Amino acid sequence: MRRADTIRSYEHASIPFGPGCSRTIMDEALRLAWTEIITPGDYEEHMARVGQAQAGADLTGHLLETASPCRGARVIFAGAGTGQMLDFLDASRLRPFRLVFTDLNARFLKSLKRRLAQLDLPAEVIEDDFENTALSPGPDLLIATLLLENIDWRRGVETISALRPAACGIIIQENPPEMKSAITPGRVLPPSLAEAASQAHPVLVPYDQLVAAFAARGYEQVDTSSRDVADGKRLISVLFQEELKP
Ligand SMILES: C[S@@+](CC[C@H](N)C(=O)[O-])C[C@H]1O[C@@H](n2cnc3c(N)ncnc32)[C@H](O)[C@@H]1O
Repeated sequence: MRRADTIRSYEHASIPFGPGCSRTIMDEALRLAWTEIITPGDYEEHMARVGQAQAGADLTGHLLETASPCRGARVIFAGAGTGQMLDFLDASRLRPFRLVFTDLNARFLKSLKRRLAQLDLPAEVIEDDFENTALSPGPDLLIATLLLENIDWRRGVETISALRPAACGIIIQENPPEMKSAITPGRVLPPSLAEAASQAHPVLVPYDQLVAAFAARGYEQVDTSSRDVADGKRLISVLFQEELKP
């Protein structure tokens, strides 16, 4: 586990795919990439190959353990995608909770529902745009893995703050400082991801700015952890807890 102050700067971090650019609103190209272009199979193949699916699941387990929500707690997974983490995370760790999974992509949610059915894991599955959410407020824990890179992340933090979870786990990606190019040199992407990468550009979330944005909304960073993944990148989980009012 690493403390916030030892986490290296994101100044030179590049993005998961596509050329670097900064954005203040979710761009339509990204929305289109996630809803129309990227197939569940290609997404999962890539994520497993680069070890991000496994690392994300492992950090999710760590977040659950650290936040330790009570039995029956409402736990939301926002931007849950195809639910690939369920291939790498023991479902028994999720069973005690009232689970809610959301995503913008209806096709991804179909894969997610299939996994839930196979595991006989009860959950609410909701097609939801996290930049304009219809979720009910007050979850005990909200987890968002690699979602903020794909939306206007500050708006994502505002959404979370408005939902007022007691705790919130954010998993973000960090690239090595020297990696300026969007796509890891030499990394071949499955076809639909390659197509998406040619037109849609996720933006990495600066760790320090993320912590500051949550602090401004009354959330204290209580844990930071990371896992190495392919190409010198890392996934970093940050657990925030609502600060207690005096
Ligand atoms: C990099 S994937 C991460 C998926 C999943 N959390 C995982 O770790 O495998 C980003 C996910 O965010 C979803 N997404 C993109 N924009 C969204 C939005 N505005 N609201 C909700 N989900 C969104 C995509 O459909 C995709 O499933």
